[in-house]
Amino acid sequence: MSLQEKLAELRQEALVRINEAKAERALQDVKVNYLGKKGVITGLMKEMKELPKEERPEFGQLVNEVRKAIEQEIEAKKVLLEEEALNAQLENETIDVTLPGRKVSLGAKHPLTKINEDLEDLFIGLGYEIVEGYEVESDYYNFEALNLPKSHPARDMQDTFYISEEILMRTHTSPVQARTLEKRNGVGPVKIICPGKVYRRDSDDATHSHQFTQIEGLVVAENIKMSDLKGTLELLARKLFGADREIRLRPSFFPFTEPSVEVDVSCFKCKGHGCNVCKQTGWIEVLGSGMVHPNVLEMAGFDSSKYSGFAFGLGPDRMAMLKYGIEDIRHFYTNDVRFLEQFKPVEDGGEA
Ligand code: PHE
Repeated sequence: MSLQEKLAELRQEALVRINEAKAERALQDVKVNYLGKKGVITGLMKEMKELPKEERPEFGQLVNEVRKAIEQEIEAKKVLLEEEALNAQLENETIDVTLPGRKVSLGAKHPLTKINEDLEDLFIGLGYEIVEGYEVESDYYNFEALNLPKSHPARDMQDTFYISEEILMRTHTSPVQARTLEKRNGVGPVKIICPGKVYRRDSDDATHSHQFTQIEGLVVAENIKMSDLKGTLELLARKLFGADREIRLRPSFFPFTEPSVEVDVSCFKCKGHGCNVCKQTGWIEVLGSGMVHPNVLEMAGFDSSKYSGFAFGLGPDRMAMLKYGIEDIRHFYTNDVRFLEQFKPVEDGGEA
């Protein structure tokens, strides 16, 4: 067989193999086997010296043509294979858009978070600032600056966890009011609410927990009157318990307010007729409040002949217990998912 015939045969063979190739890898093999340094067509070039001299240029040209033809064929096949691969992938990855979506299971907001957010919304809307304070407090801000000197009998109202003589776990969020007033250097107006955790040495039972939450509200400005307090408390009660609620103020005592009042809201369940929630009285006690005691203002550097104010403190735990009919305060702090899931948004299968 002449070299030319051999070349034609190799060309034919290579084209068949290219045609049969199922993957790029096979094309690469063809390239190496026929056109590589040790490839069979490259080998033919070496045999060229067997040809008569005058035939050699023509043969060389022929070999080059064959190389080019094979290369082109490989490229064309490569494009084809890529296209096929893409089509196969597209075919495999088609999604059925008519299938129902997978449901994302949402967590639920903790009931105390919900109450806090509701109240924060209300008070931010009224122009209040939210201020946070320290859970580990000094005796001074927790008691003394609030008109509760050492050995004052009213300290017994708040059974305290002492860390040292002067340092304690705050028993209420009122120290934030003392600190904030002090920072304002005697210049009003001050309008703040202070949410946070507080601690008392109560024995833990269904209605007492050594840790619970409070929200303190404080307004100090010129000409603040008891009627401002009453109007604010009315708004607060209606935000929490419904638009048709009434409130009632009863005289009370707190060292840091004078006069002091205990605030009741008309029962949201029986609308005042008497039921188990309001213990048949038609009223539910919800918070303590009063007009800021002049001593508290003076100690923080406010002129009590110019400024007056009101403060109130409520317990979101108690509010949530009333609102959602929760019987044990400890549920809020033990993170039992079965309890917390009941507060899922309705659209996610929850109740409230
Ligand atoms: N700090 C009081 C308490 O925890 C509540 C309160 C706050 C009362 C502000 C009056 C004014 O008992």
